[in-house]
Amino acid sequence: MFDFKKATENVGGWLTRAEGLFLYNTAKKVKAENVIVEIGSWKGRSAICLGNGSKDGNKAKIFAIDPHVGSPEHQKRFRKIDTFEEFRQNIDRAGVAHYIEPVRDTSENAAENFKHQVELVFIDGHHGYKFVKLDFNLWFPKVVNGGILAFHDSWHLHFAGPYLVTAILLLTSSRIKNPQLVDTITCFEKVEKNSAVHRLENIGFLIYRALFGIIGFFKLILYGRKAI
Ligand SMILES: C[S@@+](CC[C@H](N)C(=O)[O-])C[C@H]1O[C@@H](n2cnc3c(N)ncnc32)[C@H](O)[C@@H]1O
Repeated sequence: MFDFKKATENVGGWLTRAEGLFLYNTAKKVKAENVIVEIGSWKGRSAICLGNGSKDGNKAKIFAIDPHVGSPEHQKRFRKIDTFEEFRQNIDRAGVAHYIEPVRDTSENAAENFKHQVELVFIDGHHGYKFVKLDFNLWFPKVVNGGILAFHDSWHLHFAGPYLVTAILLLTSSRIKNPQLVDTITCFEKVEKNSAVHRLENIGFLIYRALFGIIGFFKLILYGRKAI
């Protein structure tokens, strides 16, 4: 059984245990002929969960994309950032480096010549609306039907980008079904075409998420976000 606490000990980041277990279990099911894409790696917390899932599952390859210079909120807080070496050391120490190909670049550049079939995309890069929308538009066509898209920090308006992009998709898209909320992650499955029942479920999920987001927001104000 995957031990999140042990696997990510001393690895800075914001991913919660429930989110880590979700990534582990979803990555474990990805078929060997498909790949996993992570947008936004930071110091490797989520990559370690994906890597362990792949290792215990079908050994699907993971592309971990990050320019490793941080997002604007990190640059403001930590000034000059270079997380690449620490990321490499952390995935190495966790014993999953073999399954992960680090791509030191932006999601936009990495998508350009990317030819693999993707079964799982974890979107946790730049949280601005136009960047999250771009991440979705660039990577959605590369995801196979039945594949999963998961957005971190999407459960309330504190991070407007992931919240709004997922809300608009859930309200309007005919290509997604079975949304789920795992702490701050909103995820759903890509389909060729969803049914009227799926679209109703998507809207119902949004109402549930809006209510849960209010509770989450107050928890955030009270306890803050664990970081670094
Ligand atoms: C919230 S952190 C990721 C946390 C990581 N998933 C974890 O579990 O610890 C966001 C990361 O996105 C990266 N980033 C910012 N803009 C990006 C872009 N356009 N493409 C890919 N990554 C980006 C930053 O460098 C930063 O490391």
